[in-house]
Amino acid sequence: MKEKVKRIRAEIARSLDDVSTVAGLREVRSKYLSRSGEIPALLKLLGSLPKEERPEAGRIINELKNWAEEVFDSREAELAAKELEERYAREALDISMPAEFRRVGTLHPVTLVREELVRIFAGMGFIVYEGPEIEDDYHNFTALNTPRDHPARDKQDTFYINEDLLLRTQTSPAQIRMMETTKPPFKVVSPGRTFRRDDDATHSPMFQQMEGLVIDRGLSLCDLHGLLDIMAKNMFSSEAKTRFRPSYFPFTEPSVEVDVSCFECGGAGCRLCKGTGWIEILGAGVVNRRVIANCGLDPDEWTGLAFGLGLERIAMLKYGINNISLFYDGDARILSQFR
Ligand code: DAH
Repeated sequence: MKEKVKRIRAEIARSLDDVSTVAGLREVRSKYLSRSGEIPALLKLLGSLPKEERPEAGRIINELKNWAEEVFDSREAELAAKELEERYAREALDISMPAEFRRVGTLHPVTLVREELVRIFAGMGFIVYEGPEIEDDYHNFTALNTPRDHPARDKQDTFYINEDLLLRTQTSPAQIRMMETTKPPFKVVSPGRTFRRDDDATHSPMFQQMEGLVIDRGLSLCDLHGLLDIMAKNMFSSEAKTRFRPSYFPFTEPSVEVDVSCFECGGAGCRLCKGTGWIEILGAGVVNRRVIANCGLDPDEWTGLAFGLGLERIAMLKYGINNISLFYDGDARILSQFR
């Protein structure tokens, strides 16, 4: 019996080292310690031993059993801990890993200017109307008091589609379409693309304008000044001032050119304002009676204020861009600066 116990003990000790998983260890354990295992089998043999040998044999078998339970327990704890560690390592989330880079788009600077202006004018009760980019000669010129032989036509080198249709050279025809279809009084701004055969650092064949039109009774140049002054203060600087200089447009009488005090130097004179302290930002005027009459409204009852500005010009001034082609070259490095 002593020999058997010794052999089993040696076997167990060896297999403890061989086995490397909890499941494997439990199999070995049941081989020795389960009801039908080798150690209970030894206990069953006790009865067949001579009486005087039984106590000693019982003692060493029990000792073996206790020892075996202890070493299996402690080896199992060891293996379970190791398996848990491995599982942690396997399932670990590395939250320090850099996230996937997503490219974010940006609004175009001319779009930013357009949206800002629309916001400012909407705040003064203006609605937005967008006219067609392909216009007829009548809306783009004739109705705006610019008949075929009018010298002002020459200044706007026009892309013609045929005798009558053209790419609009200005957003002013939107004024005509509004007056033809809308019952006054109303206030409207009309942003959109315009086209001229023109191409240099400050001119692009496709550019964008925003037209403004107010139709009501008894309007004067003073109302126009108030309106544009509020726009300039919101658009450029709360300190901005505006001034009118006399000018000429066929569709307004009187006509003015509007300057804003230089928002770079505050009016002292700098490179941006070419030392004058003022920057020209738009053309405007009181709508010519003939234009109002052309649209079927009574010029003795209705008066109009109009203005038109170049969105690229405003964007160039505001963001310090010196070449208009940068807006339309499609270079993402330009856009990314407006994020
Ligand atoms: N349409 C003019 C241009 O393209 C700009 C303009 C000037 C529009 C005066 C107006 C205005 O409505 O009153 O040069």
